[in-house]
Amino acid sequence: MQFKSTVTAALLAASGVLAQSNDTSIPSSCTISSGATATAQADLDKYSGCKTLVGNLTIGGTSLTSGALAGVEELQGSLVINNATNLGSFHADSLKKIENSLSLQMLYILTSASFGSLEEVDTIDFLTLPAISTFTTNLKHANIIRISDTALETVNAFTSLQEVAVFNINNNRGLTNLKSDLETVSQALEFSSNGNDANVTFDSLKWANNITLRDVDSASFASLSAVNASLGLINNTISSLDLSNLTSVGGSFAVISNDQLTEVDCSNLTTVGGGFVVANNTNLKQIDGFHKLSTVGGALVVTGNFTELDLSSLKSVKGGAQVDTSSGNFSCDALKSLQSKGAIAGDSFVCKNGATSTSIKLSSSSTSGSHTSTASSSGNNNAVSTSSGTSSSSSTTKSKSAKGAAAAEFAPAGSILGAFAAVAAALL
Ligand SMILES: *[C@@H]1O[C@H](CO)[C@@H](O)[C@H](O)[C@H]1NC(C)=O
Ligand SMILES: *[C@@H]1O[C@H](CO)[C@@H](O)[C@H](O)[C@H]1NC(C)=O
Ligand SMILES: *[C@@H]1O[C@H](CO)[C@@H](O)[C@H](O)[C@H]1NC(C)=O
Ligand SMILES: *[C@@H]1O[C@H](CO)[C@@H](O)[C@H](O)[C@H]1NC(C)=O
Ligand SMILES: *[C@@H]1O[C@H](CO)[C@@H](O)[C@H](O)[C@H]1NC(C)=O
Ligand SMILES: *[C@@H]1O[C@H](CO)[C@@H](O)[C@H](O)[C@H]1NC(C)=O
Ligand SMILES: *[C@@H]1O[C@H](CO)[C@@H](O)[C@H](O)[C@H]1NC(C)=O
Ligand SMILES: *[C@@H]1O[C@H](CO)[C@@H](O)[C@H](O)[C@H]1NC(C)=O
Ligand SMILES: *[C@@H]1O[C@H](CO)[C@@H](O)[C@H](O)[C@H]1NC(C)=O
Ligand SMILES: *[C@@H]1O[C@H](CO)[C@@H](O)[C@H](O)[C@H]1NC(C)=O
Ligand SMILES: *[C@@H]1O[C@H](CO)[C@@H](O)[C@H](O)[C@H]1NC(C)=O
Ligand SMILES: *[C@@H]1O[C@H](CO)[C@@H](O)[C@H](O)[C@H]1NC(C)=O
Repeated sequence: MQFKSTVTAALLAASGVLAQSNDTSIPSSCTISSGATATAQADLDKYSGCKTLVGNLTIGGTSLTSGALAGVEELQGSLVINNATNLGSFHADSLKKIENSLSLQMLYILTSASFGSLEEVDTIDFLTLPAISTFTTNLKHANIIRISDTALETVNAFTSLQEVAVFNINNNRGLTNLKSDLETVSQALEFSSNGNDANVTFDSLKWANNITLRDVDSASFASLSAVNASLGLINNTISSLDLSNLTSVGGSFAVISNDQLTEVDCSNLTTVGGGFVVANNTNLKQIDGFHKLSTVGGALVVTGNFTELDLSSLKSVKGGAQVDTSSGNFSCDALKSLQSKGAIAGDSFVCKNGATSTSIKLSSSSTSGSHTSTASSSGNNNAVSTSSGTSSSSSTTKSKSAKGAAAAEFAPAGSILGAFAAVAAALL
């Protein structure tokens, strides 16, 4: 009895201490009422005695021209500054941690945002900051970074960050250089539609779940050894691409419409889990940087104006193949031989060069006519059919030569273009 009541007393005492400590550590004056919007400096000054501030701090309105959040070291909530139309600068230099988001949106005259002590935040979301020129943090931990439609010319606020889930930098027209020390990106890395001739350097990056680059003039990924999902480089002005440390891509590999690309080095790449697409890179003549590529889990699509395609280690393509060059100086022999060995498992196989005049028709089944694809229409009298399966190579027949020189046209099928379109759509 005596013992029991002592325990009860101790529990009561403990809960009393707890309640008291709650009260003293975060006074109610340091709790932001939900739905409130701070529109004047006085609204922010109310919190200057709060080391920890609880709730979402939303700042807006037209009266603030410069704003400062002083004293607060931790915000247990989000800091949102949205459409504060006259806000020219904002400072929160004591703030070390924001539990949820730091979101700056539609701040048309904001030129500087300073979060000099900020080490930890879940999400940074910047959208439409057309005047911003400086943004500082001391960020060490973040989950999501999205910087879109800002006037930032450099993004050096993240130099101490090593791991993020999302790093998405898009439509920042003045941003022409990005040097990042990121080591891993567990969801998606995207850099697109920023300044013309932007140069990006991700030399510490070891792996990323997926990577998309667009409108970039040069890209460096010296340490990149794996992409878990997809890698897409689309519409860049990159002239040479060195991904020589890359050994595997779990999803699709796509290098599309990079007009100035003359060289791709993926000399250690052995596995692509999805489709392999190297398309429309008009100046890429020698596709000779893939000599270790052994397996492709989807379709193989290589189009452009190339004279050489070295896939000498290729053993297995789970999908079909579409290889199409406008150069007449390319031989389909190696691919045909792969296909006849059964290494290309998909239903469809097309290999064609610029001297298209002879067509080779794979299997001719009675239904093939109705599946005739228009994709290969290059004005030639191509015999086109949908091959019905693995027996296709044995049923190859040569059709009449239409215009002379040597070229091979195998049956393209909707599935190939479908696979290609799917890859493209996923990345576009
Ligand atoms: C103290 O904080 C804890 C956890 O945040 C909470 O569960 C508890 O109800 C609080 N106590 C008082 C008296 O506010
Ligand atoms: C803060 O905003 C988020 C959504 O943005 C909401 O889920 C959360 O409940 C808010 N917190 C408070 C204390 O109002
Ligand atoms: C932004 O603020 C201005 C001025 O206060 C207002 O007229 C406008 O409707 C606001 N825009 C949005 C999208 O909230
Ligand atoms: C990007 O690098 C190339 C050389 O690799 C250089 O010519 C170009 O000026 C650089 N672009 C910028 C914006 O610095
Ligand atoms: C991505 O691949 C790397 C290297 O194989 C691995 O260490 C990492 O855990 C993978 N990440 C995800 C998100 O699957
Ligand atoms: C990134 O990869 C995942 C698969 O792991 C995929 O579901 C997602 O759509 C991809 N995101 C982007 C932006 O490509
Ligand atoms: C390339 O990968 C190897 C082994 O994974 C590593 O030792 C080497 O440092 C990497 N190269 C670069 C430039 O990171
Ligand atoms: C490439 O970029 C140009 C201009 O930026 C755009 O017009 C074109 O549609 C883009 N092409 C692809 C394939 O995204
Ligand atoms: C990449 O291949 C080169 C030779 O082609 C080799 O020296 C190097 O060690 C390889 N790197 C990795 C990471 O496998
Ligand atoms: C490649 O170029 C051809 C011809 O210009 C065009 O029809 C096709 O859409 C392009 N493919 C991609 C993925 O841009
Ligand atoms: C292909 O490249 C050759 C030069 O190597 C050039 O003469 C020809 O116009 C190019 N064709 C296309 C369709 O780009
Ligand atoms: C055709 O290929 C041969 C040998 O690969 C090369 O010497 C020649 O220059 C090529 N011709 C054209 C027009 O690319």
